Amino acid sequence: MSTTKTAKLSLGDKTIDLPVLSPTVGPDVLDITKLYAQAEVFTYDPGFTSTAACDSAITYIDGDKGELLYRGYPIEQLAEKSTHTEVCYLLLYGELPNKAQLADFNARITRHTMVHEQMHYFYRGFRRDAHPMATMVGVVGAMSAFYHDSLDITDPWQREVASIRMIAKLPTIAAMAYKYSMGQPFVYPKNSLSYAGNFLNMCFAVPAEEYVVNPVLERAMDRIMMLHADHEQNASTSTVRLAGSSGANPFACIAAGIACLWGPAHGGANQACLEMLREIGTVDRIPEYIAKAKDKNSGFRLMGFGHRVYKNFDPRAKVMKQTADEVLELLGVHNNPLLQVAKELERIALSDEYFITKKLYPNVDFYSGIILEAMGFPTSMFTPIFAISRTVGWISQWKEMIAENGKIGRPRQRYIGPAQRDYVDIRHR
Ligand code: CMC
Repeated sequence: MSTTKTAKLSLGDKTIDLPVLSPTVGPDVLDITKLYAQAEVFTYDPGFTSTAACDSAITYIDGDKGELLYRGYPIEQLAEKSTHTEVCYLLLYGELPNKAQLADFNARITRHTMVHEQMHYFYRGFRRDAHPMATMVGVVGAMSAFYHDSLDITDPWQREVASIRMIAKLPTIAAMAYKYSMGQPFVYPKNSLSYAGNFLNMCFAVPAEEYVVNPVLERAMDRIMMLHADHEQNASTSTVRLAGSSGANPFACIAAGIACLWGPAHGGANQACLEMLREIGTVDRIPEYIAKAKDKNSGFRLMGFGHRVYKNFDPRAKVMKQTADEVLELLGVHNNPLLQVAKELERIALSDEYFITKKLYPNVDFYSGIILEAMGFPTSMFTPIFAISRTVGWISQWKEMIAENGKIGRPRQRYIGPAQRDYVDIRHR
């Protein structure tokens, strides 16, 4: 990283030199770590729109070009040629595995898919109508109470075991949350199936009837997982890093990430999008909703549209759209009213001046929701599936941060409350 360039900041009669750090690709960053010591000012950037919070060698996004790279590899190539577990290996260890490495990694993952039997009782503490994300936040957090031998974050071996455990067990935990909400028995993992196939089986198999995993749906699920696997310093990943910076155990950190992902502006958008399509209901009501989305006072946004970083197109959405076509073709859902609303909404929004000028394109969640709905998942399972997929990204970023031995994350603020004042006795207030 080069530090030969500097930026000059004039503050009153002071001039401060700020080192300029260059990345491999992407914009330079101004190093302000010494700014407070030198000038007694903070930088101010609520929402972190211009702030790089860390160094990372995992994922690169060029929002203007619509480019997403995992460890340098374009998402389109990975989605076409790779598998989710291979992508997990790539994100975790930095390189694509050879055959033996991949076989070993897959074996390690499959040997950890079962959860401690005692965890089954933990589920029973939840109401049957609990949102699966609520259950997952609890159960993943509770993993730290079950796996005491992988809590020491200073031990690289324990960090590795915790990572494998989470990648392996998250599908089991999410599928159990689903089964519990349905009042159906839990289905144990089947290690002869692929990562995605096993998840589908745990969700849709019942003891009374054999479930055969459809290879098109298995591939679609695998793609959904790959496309959501990492997205550099998004809100949930930043949450995981911040939680991890205090030295919290990895299960607690990932539970924090799941909680953050749940919000409708982030991972919860896939559920919110489908609910919006249902609310719109018929194509003739779309103009009413487009008008509402443009009206600032309505507080309404078209869910599944727009992105903080992608201001041209979301490359994940392109792949998802193609996968959606394949799945809908297989399942023969051409005349589904929901799909008609989605297609018409997409067409209108892509040609409407408001959406064009604000660069609001359908994002990955617009299409993933449609696929998951067609597969038979209830909307409440959409965000848990995002959480399963993002687990490897959270863990890779957490491991990277721990290995750097960084400081605790501790932002400052612009205080706008009252200055110091004296306590007033209650009789005089
Ligand atoms: N519908 C209508 N208007 C919108 C939308 C939308 N979906 N998104 C942004 N805008 C408008 C917004 O009102 C603002 O207008 P103005 O400049 O006149 O004030 C402008 O576009 C910029 O919006 P912003 O809120 O400043 O942009 P942001 O970068 O902070 O927000 C976003 C990004 C994803 C939170 C936002 O686009 C949004 O709320 N989208 C809907 C939720 C959604 O689909 N989220 C999933 C994101 S992809 C999956 C993931 O990574 O989690």
